[in-house]
Amino acid sequence: MIQSASRLLHINPTRFQSDFTTLSAIGATLDGGVDRPALSAAHLAARTWFAGQVQSAGLEFHVDKAGNHSAILRSADPAARTLLLGSHLDSVPNGGCYDGALGVLAALEVLRTVQDAGLELPVHLEAIDFTDEEGTLVGFLGSKALTGKLTPADLQNPRGGRQTLLDGFSRAGLAEVSLFSARRDPAGLAGYLELHIEQGPRLNQSGIQIGVVTGIVGIVSHRLSFTGRANHAGTTPMTERKDAGLGAASFMLAAHQMVLERFPDCVVNIGSLHLTPGSFNIVPGSAEMALECRSANQTQLSQLQAALLERARTEADRFGLGLEIQALGQHLPAPLDPLAQAAISAAAEERMLTHTILPSGAGHDAQNLADLCPSGMVFIPSVDGVSHSPNEFSHWEDCLNGGNVLLGAALRMAWL
Ligand code: GLV
Ligand code: MN
Ligand code: MN
Repeated sequence: MIQSASRLLHINPTRFQSDFTTLSAIGATLDGGVDRPALSAAHLAARTWFAGQVQSAGLEFHVDKAGNHSAILRSADPAARTLLLGSHLDSVPNGGCYDGALGVLAALEVLRTVQDAGLELPVHLEAIDFTDEEGTLVGFLGSKALTGKLTPADLQNPRGGRQTLLDGFSRAGLAEVSLFSARRDPAGLAGYLELHIEQGPRLNQSGIQIGVVTGIVGIVSHRLSFTGRANHAGTTPMTERKDAGLGAASFMLAAHQMVLERFPDCVVNIGSLHLTPGSFNIVPGSAEMALECRSANQTQLSQLQAALLERARTEADRFGLGLEIQALGQHLPAPLDPLAQAAISAAAEERMLTHTILPSGAGHDAQNLADLCPSGMVFIPSVDGVSHSPNEFSHWEDCLNGGNVLLGAALRMAWL
């Protein structure tokens, strides 16, 4: 019954592609990407459009207290659990059209396909667009709230800054105190599946069509502020400067080298560096940077974190600078469910698609769901492995394959 149903069903390619084209125009940038940071006007416009698509498909529409937007196709059994399928409609600043958007649209398309086929499932199907996956505000805000992992500290000290967060809440009509009531009882969750572009080069380089994700990296972020003394750039002798930029630059090089030499399973990124006052003719008085490190190996990640912070202190001392370290949250590495992986592999096989297992170096909402319900992710190839860039691109045939594998895997998970 399960096998034959999944073999017969295919998502509607025209509808899926037309949705993708329309959504890609919301917040579109001149260089072919999208700029839809969480709770920005463009992101809220994308959500409004999504709500319209859900309603015109005759599906139930729901928004929870964390702003997660959902389409729901109910099982005839009111006591059924919910199988969540989803991703996110927000983007990084100047991002690409595929990251997150593809997974939300594929999830919606699975619901419409099951509905069109009149298939009765023993689970409610829910296509969910999680709030602030990308971390321009907090990071995984919606999935953390839904899984009960959101803490008041996350909101007080968010990656994107407290005022940016409050401004976003006010644009979206969200109340900070109510966010925590988005929490759901995990007993009601049958599982979580997400289709996503790989965002790296492995599938593309190997010519394999589908990736079955084994686990997701842990992520630790800090804001580091080196403090020196702003002074005249022309009159201050080179030997008497307290140049905050030098401490930052020296730390950046050291961090890169440290990971290469001592932490082969980790990556480090300093994605933002802000020198103030920021002028040709002033020695930088302060340097603030966004530091993030990732690994699937929690022991290495903790060791790297400690080594990096120690090195930052050393570099600050070396240049006579002060150093302030702000911890901005940690996401643990998350192995994904073996049964979900098997469902994805089987769905790829029945569609005669080549597949392989691989870990995810990118963060995903699935890492918050993974310890609460069977969770899995389907990857499709990213051309040249490019992502978080307007040049992010996946061939439409691969997107379609991914959507069909998501459908096949969802049908299998529904009967688990
Ligand atoms: C999200 O895409 C992340 O990995 O930062
Ligand atoms: Mn994503
Ligand atoms: Mn992303």
